[in-house]
Amino acid sequence: MEKFPKDFIWGVGSASYQVEGAWNEDGKGENIWDRYCHSPESKVFEHQNADVTIDEYHRFEEDMDWLKELRCNAYRFSISWARILPAGTGAVNPKGIAYYNKLIDGLLARGIQPMVTLYHWDLPVALQDKGGWANREIVDWFAEYARVCFENFGDRVPYWITLNEPTVFTFSGHLLGAVPPCIQSFEQGLYSAHHAMVAHGTVVRLFRKMGLKGKIGFAFDIVPKLPYTDAEEDKKAARLANATTQYFFYEGVTKGKYPKEAIDFYESKGVKLPLQDGDMELVTEKCDFFGLNYYLTQAVRYKKGCGLFDCEYVFRENFPVANAVEWEIDPEGLYDVLKDVQKATNNEVPIIITENGICQDDYCENGEYNDDERLGYIRAHIDVIQKAYSEGVKMAGYVCWCGFDNFEWNNGTNKRFGLIHVDFETQKRTMKKSGKWYREFISKNS
Ligand code: BGC
Repeated sequence: MEKFPKDFIWGVGSASYQVEGAWNEDGKGENIWDRYCHSPESKVFEHQNADVTIDEYHRFEEDMDWLKELRCNAYRFSISWARILPAGTGAVNPKGIAYYNKLIDGLLARGIQPMVTLYHWDLPVALQDKGGWANREIVDWFAEYARVCFENFGDRVPYWITLNEPTVFTFSGHLLGAVPPCIQSFEQGLYSAHHAMVAHGTVVRLFRKMGLKGKIGFAFDIVPKLPYTDAEEDKKAARLANATTQYFFYEGVTKGKYPKEAIDFYESKGVKLPLQDGDMELVTEKCDFFGLNYYLTQAVRYKKGCGLFDCEYVFRENFPVANAVEWEIDPEGLYDVLKDVQKATNNEVPIIITENGICQDDYCENGEYNDDERLGYIRAHIDVIQKAYSEGVKMAGYVCWCGFDNFEWNNGTNKRFGLIHVDFETQKRTMKKSGKWYREFISKNS
């Protein structure tokens, strides 16, 4: 198999709300995850919050040393919008700018490239109170925020990601109500999804206009829903489940058209796509890389009246299940997705795996965290990436999710994805077996 090129990106990722803590320090505004976690309606494990989490806001120097110890040449992190613009728009918080400057400079000094996500789900509440992603004005709000980031950090950041996993904050947040802003509305589901894509394209265009020298893209999650059997009704169910979740965005950017099944579904609920002239040109604005978050595949079976889309998820035989999260592990599924992206982008746009990893409950033996399941998972997925690369798929990098155990959204601190263990009581960091393996692997491959 072809060796990975010397400049291949080997990184780990994080998101501001999951790692920073310092939720109300140094002028930071409140965001929708702060508000949700502090409210009695929160569905988070044991009503936890990320007020402190792994305290990266105060411990970033130590954490950057850990990243160096991991031999990473990139660190993917997100900027907290409310730390930069506490009210979402308007006044800029100088202490927020100073924090990210220190982080960016510290990474560069250690030979680690910053890969910055502009939005990883933590919208300032001031904007949610004006309708958030369901309000078309979000396009301008997001552009204003992006401009401040580009002006302050654009001279040093080589990789920018506009949005992380739009499926989660649009459909899960506005249609299913599973995560903040916890709304259940067909209209807001579709509106927020489309506005997110228009906002993404607007910011890519702004980036070009400002003549920044870095690269810009997105981080879409793809969880292929595969028909459980060959029956036509299962195939149809899988298609609808794909079209109304991740493939809504995927087909939007690659085909310039949202899936017909999704549009028909919303029309059947009386909701029309709020399309304005020029929107799809924005949605398809050319990116420098295709950021792909990949974890698993799922099988779907038709079942009338089940859920919103008349289907249920079924476990398949012969797929190992990651017990901690009940995900069916499917590295070959990643191979199929990579081939599909290659085709959809005419192999013109390099692919960066912007997230991949697994939750495993840790067990400690003589001070060692032996997370063999995680190690095997990562190795198997990197093997598949190497196979695809050897066959000519344009691959540019791999970002493992994630560096440090952290606040895992609705699962709180109950689910761990890190290569580095964090004791949430003492904040002590300890490299796990998977981290040691990743370090050796990177050393041999860069
Ligand atoms: C998200 C991360 C999350 C990870 C594991 C992704 O959907 O972008 O923030 O921690 O999955 O659940």
